[in-house]
Amino acid sequence: MERLKHVISARQFDDPEFLLGLFESANAMDRDDKFRALTDPLRGRILATLFYEPSTRTRFSFEAAMQKLGGGVLTAENMRESSSATKGETIADTVRIVSGYADAIAIRHFEQGTAAEAARISPVPIINAGDGVGEHPTQALTDVYTIKKELGRLSGLRVALVGDLLNGRTIHSLLPLLCLYKDVQFDLISPWQLRLPLKHREYLLEKHATFRESEKLGSEVLEQADVLYITRVQKERFASAEEYESVKDAYILDAAMANRLKPEAIIMHALPRVNEISPEVDDNARAAYFRQAKNGLYIRMALLKYLLA
Ligand code: CP
Repeated sequence: MERLKHVISARQFDDPEFLLGLFESANAMDRDDKFRALTDPLRGRILATLFYEPSTRTRFSFEAAMQKLGGGVLTAENMRESSSATKGETIADTVRIVSGYADAIAIRHFEQGTAAEAARISPVPIINAGDGVGEHPTQALTDVYTIKKELGRLSGLRVALVGDLLNGRTIHSLLPLLCLYKDVQFDLISPWQLRLPLKHREYLLEKHATFRESEKLGSEVLEQADVLYITRVQKERFASAEEYESVKDAYILDAAMANRLKPEAIIMHALPRVNEISPEVDDNARAAYFRQAKNGLYIRMALLKYLLA
């Protein structure tokens, strides 16, 4: 794989060996606090986090990652209202200016393609922290790292992806990464209105991936899954409240359903959740979603070190 300058799409990570190296680096970050404190590999470097959409995990974990590596952060959690975007400044001009102050820019935007647009003009690395209904590649790296850590393997898995597959950018990034591994089979479970977009189904066909689609989260799916990945129905992407209301509670994983999974299976969710996983599931040993969120810190540390050290 050629050395990356920008991180815009999960499809850039097309080499399992590279991912293994990144995961080993993330493990080292996780294992050894002193490693970070002693070396401070990003001392004197600055990450700007430009967020035009709300975030808890992505922004805080990027900022924590940068600071744990000895670097500093310029942050805007509400660029849409608190920056000169309110005066009409374009993304291109904002990136031109901020790249003069920061060594890398993590950007979250409500429009698909914004990170790629920024990368075309930025002299410093751009990291896509979520672009509308497009992609969320650092979440997908976190997810694959979590699966490897929890299950010890990435091949021969049956992965059930459940919920809003139309708008769920984490899913759009996760699929190409999982397609790098042998014999991964997908169950795509969604209401028909929220079906995985055609371009992603075509990608699965192109990669000869095995997948089934269904509206029903039934026994067969639950009992066969190694990974049950639930997604939030993305309220902010709907044209009307009525459309959202009609599908918002399509799937609610409760304790009884969770207990139908294989004992070694894991339940994942990029979070935040609304109703789709009952809080009673949190105590189930299969519930990996809070560990998954923590893993995001180590993956982002590994990625920042790769891009900037
Ligand atoms: N998983 C994720 O992207 O969460 P945030 O929206 O809180 O960053």
